[in-house]
Amino acid sequence: MKRPSHEKTVSDSESEMVQLVLPNDTNLLGNLLGGTLMHWIDLAGAVVANRHCRQAIVTASMDGLDFLAPIPLGSLVILQGKLKHVGSSSMEVGVQVYSENPLSGKRRQTSTATLCYVAVDKQGKPLPVPRLLLTSDQEKRDFEAAIQRKEARLLRLQQKSLRQKTSKREAE
Ligand SMILES: CC(C)(COP(=O)(O)OP(=O)(O)OC[C@H]1O[C@@H](n2cnc3c(N)ncnc32)[C@H](O)[C@@H]1OP(=O)(O)O)[C@@H](O)C(=O)NCCC(=O)NCCS
Repeated sequence: MKRPSHEKTVSDSESEMVQLVLPNDTNLLGNLLGGTLMHWIDLAGAVVANRHCRQAIVTASMDGLDFLAPIPLGSLVILQGKLKHVGSSSMEVGVQVYSENPLSGKRRQTSTATLCYVAVDKQGKPLPVPRLLLTSDQEKRDFEAAIQRKEARLLRLQQKSLRQKTSKREAE
């Protein structure tokens, strides 16, 4: 299928999601569960990718996820996602996570994450997505840095698949 002819900017899909940490979301220390935060990060990133391509998407990878500080029960969690790179069918989204004290309004950054989504058809086959129109020097720097990450990711995937083939052959 042909790539859509229209281009879209980073701000066309930039999104913010806010969650409240409830008792069911916490561990024994009363802090947000890591798995729940990963789920929210995935959703926040998926909203961005979907708004860019307006097609069904799947999460292809999540890397560079850091948990910098615990998020206590009752906090607001702010997840800000924006596109860093768009390839033929893949979209890399950076998600910044902040916790906010609902009484004082004090905010601190607690996580950063980088995720890749791929637009797919009903059979799960990759589909072309609109090009990303870069409108600032920062967006151009982000795009270049994401290309390096994409190359490293693809190399890691190739090496993994090679290792799997080798160990399968050895097991036979
Ligand atoms: C992601 C997926 C669609 C890629 O399919 P594929 O047939 O390997 O596709 P290709 O090798 O042609 O690559 C298509 C694009 O995906 C990107 N891609 C593939 N695997 C990737 C990975 N692990 N991480 C990041 N990007 C990846 C490629 O770089 C390529 O990008 P480009 O078109 O912008 O250059 C496929 O691996 C898949 O369906 N994975 C499972 C997804 C899933 O179930 N997620 C969890 C639930 S949403």
